[in-house]
Amino acid sequence: MTTLLHIVGARPNFMKVAALLRGTPSGAPVRHLLVHTGQHYDADMSDAFFRDLGLPAPDFHLGVGSGSHAAQTARIMLESERVILDSRPDWVVVYGDVNSTLACALVAVKEGIRIAHVEAGVRSFDRRMPEEVNRVLVDAIADLCLTPSSDADQNLAREGVPPERIRCVGNVMVDTLLSVREQARAVGAPATQQVTPGRYAFATFHRAGNVDDPMTLAAIAGALNRIAERAPVLFAVHPRTRKRLEEFGLANALTRVRLLDPLGYLETVDLAQHAGVVLTDSGGLQVETTVLGVPCLTVRPSTEWTATLTEGTNRLVTAGEAAPIAIDLLDARARGSWQARTPEGWDGQAGRRIVEILSTY
Ligand code: UD1
Repeated sequence: MTTLLHIVGARPNFMKVAALLRGTPSGAPVRHLLVHTGQHYDADMSDAFFRDLGLPAPDFHLGVGSGSHAAQTARIMLESERVILDSRPDWVVVYGDVNSTLACALVAVKEGIRIAHVEAGVRSFDRRMPEEVNRVLVDAIADLCLTPSSDADQNLAREGVPPERIRCVGNVMVDTLLSVREQARAVGAPATQQVTPGRYAFATFHRAGNVDDPMTLAAIAGALNRIAERAPVLFAVHPRTRKRLEEFGLANALTRVRLLDPLGYLETVDLAQHAGVVLTDSGGLQVETTVLGVPCLTVRPSTEWTATLTEGTNRLVTAGEAAPIAIDLLDARARGSWQARTPEGWDGQAGRRIVEILSTY
């Protein structure tokens, strides 16, 4: 029996672990233990995802909450050390690039417990992003780097990770997206929001680089307002963004935009799959829009999901460029003159491959 101790804590982790749980054949000699660090704790940032994804209740909840990077990372290390030592798993499985990922990987490596990093090798090459620092450090200490695509393998090779530590398994976010797509359609989110499929923009912004800077956040708000003169704009507002909009006096500036609370997974997928255009800085939505064949404008100077640019529907823009491009895309989609592209090899089987590798390695 192989015991996998999965570490999740922040919203983007939940759909990734779901792919491994779902990808485990019944009767396989694998025991899953789920640790929720509590990095995200609001019902709509955490519980809604457990519900939508059919995830089991965590075996351990660390309840660490928010704080500065140092405080949050340190608290997760202290609390997870006890759980990792007590359960002595065969693998600690960490996901993506959030602070919970780095904190638990650091604890596991010092205790000599093997680490598998899901979504390894993904790089934006921008070390100002806390996520990029987390990715580089976790890949340096992981025993197995499980990558979503061959460009990630090449990034790892350049950083000196030997080939025997790298396995290209595919994209776990795609697994989960494909498995819920029809279920999401049944939610009927566009009807609930009273918007016409293909004729509205769906927006999410939460990256520190965008929302912690008053000028940038004001420019994003301006772009959304301009788009809203032409088509409905639904903006699902992350708690960090909500706080900043209020702090910078911008909450009332978004006069035309429809502000929504953070949405569950199914509702998000449904609004994304029917949107005319998505505007975001989320890594997950860049991947998801490419799979869904919906145009995506990413307001960031770089992306770690390069295949979505070269083979998908994603484009990097500045806040200043976003409105005219979004309006052109909405027009093109209304005319039916817009073609989607999807990268090869994102086939919905990544979770199954990972479980197979970890249980036989
Ligand atoms: C984290 C991840 C980011 C990911 C994002 C998805 C890191 C370094 N960043 O950023 O990569 O894209 O999650 O959401 O791990 N807050 C609440 N309720 C919550 C969670 C957060 O109100 O349930 C507020 C708090 O004010 C908190 C702030 O949001 O201080 C930021 O939360 P934090 O977990 O530090 O980072 P995120 O911006 O969510």
